[in-house]
Amino acid sequence: MMLAPDLLHQIYMNAKTTSSTGPSPSSRAVPIGIDAIAFAVPRAYVELSDLATARGVPPAKYIEGLGNVQMAVAAPDEDPVTLATEAASRLLSGAGRSPDKIGLCIVGTETAVDHSKPIASYLHGMLGLPRACRVFETKHACFGGTAGLFNALDWIASGSARGRSALIVCTDIARYPLRSPGEPTQGGGAVAMLVSERPRLVELDPGRSGCYSQHVHDFWRPLHRKDALVDGQFSVQCYLEALSGAYEEWRQLMGPEAASSDDPLVRTCYHVPYGKMARKAHQRRCQLDGLDEKTAEERFAIEVAPSLRLPSQVGNIYTGSLYLSLLSLLSAEAEELAGKRIGLFSYGSGCAAEFFAGRVGPHAAALLQAMDVTAPLRNRQRLSIPEYEALRQRDADQDQRPAPPSAVTPSDATAAGQRALYCGIDPQERRVYTWQ
Ligand code: CAA
Repeated sequence: MMLAPDLLHQIYMNAKTTSSTGPSPSSRAVPIGIDAIAFAVPRAYVELSDLATARGVPPAKYIEGLGNVQMAVAAPDEDPVTLATEAASRLLSGAGRSPDKIGLCIVGTETAVDHSKPIASYLHGMLGLPRACRVFETKHACFGGTAGLFNALDWIASGSARGRSALIVCTDIARYPLRSPGEPTQGGGAVAMLVSERPRLVELDPGRSGCYSQHVHDFWRPLHRKDALVDGQFSVQCYLEALSGAYEEWRQLMGPEAASSDDPLVRTCYHVPYGKMARKAHQRRCQLDGLDEKTAEERFAIEVAPSLRLPSQVGNIYTGSLYLSLLSLLSAEAEELAGKRIGLFSYGSGCAAEFFAGRVGPHAAALLQAMDVTAPLRNRQRLSIPEYEALRQRDADQDQRPAPPSAVTPSDATAAGQRALYCGIDPQERRVYTWQ
């Protein structure tokens, strides 16, 4: 049975008030959304000006042409599991939430480490999450994290949460062949979000999101490959087409509210494979709103640029990219955005996209400041291009590396404020992690 959008929205707004013992009999509007957010990046990075020089390209092509300045580079002991674990443990300790209160743990990724065992399962062990917890992984290229987020919103709205929170982690390492056009857009990192009732950061409006999907081959990674394959210029067209479709559906669902000058979308965060893509996206949206190019450029500087600062220092992180852009925006402007509406656009190649909106919480700025959210970008190690290329070579052999006998399995490990590291595989080809 299809539910009318207004009815669906009503159901979300009337999500049951819950307690740790189950849904309360009284029903009233309870906001749901992102309560806290944190991220993690690899320890090392490359300056794109160094990469440009090594590739014989003017640095302006990467820095202005693509809009990025640095790219994160993972070491052999860092992988999507360690990044997810670090982001999630920073989240729980920074937000003052106990792992005991997590009832759903979803990891969105397009760089899974196993065809069967989800990263969420490793994370569950590394963090010591409760046994009474639903744990799984979601995939649709860069859209996988958003699929997890909407699943969490439904879980809360249905009453299944019973006062608990959902932990949604987006984790990926973005890799293209060396010297390919995609190389300067590489990156790696994880973003972890707590999703709950009465969220402190962003109240979401999940019953009214615009969707777009189409079967296209703009970007893919066959099971045997570590590097992604991409039809670069076509992928840009697919992204823009998906944005148009999702945004137009969102505008229809919102009706006159979409264009309301009393309560406009004052900022928009996009999926950011590289900064210029977000700029093209905002131009497309302004075009759909009937604005001219000059106005679109002026709006980009105010409405989008603050969300691109962190992504430009990390590169593409696939599933986490939209949420790093959100974190970038909020870490810069949460105070002045308190109570205001922002737009969010998620794109996953292949393709699936969603445009939705949320409202920034009144205490978001104080929470992010207390969490010191940008700390992961301090004290990173700058790699020379020969060092980066040597790491890529070692990475090619990573999955064959035997784990040292002293390493422990995740379920034996405890965090104690330490960093998770990948050790290698044991004789049964199980991945082994430790804390350092
Ligand atoms: N100074 C300033 N700008 C310069 C320049 C210079 N010296 N030389 C070139 N440029 C500009 C170009 O004008 C161009 O800008 P516009 O797009 O505004 O015209 C920009 O630099 C890029 O240059 P090219 O058009 O020559 O493109 P490229 O060969 O560098 O490839 C790319 C660009 C296709 C995005 C490539 O980096 C790529 O394949 N990336 C991976 C795929 C990707 O990120 N796709 C995005 C959409 S799909 C998605 O979003 C999912 C995902 O996460 C992968």
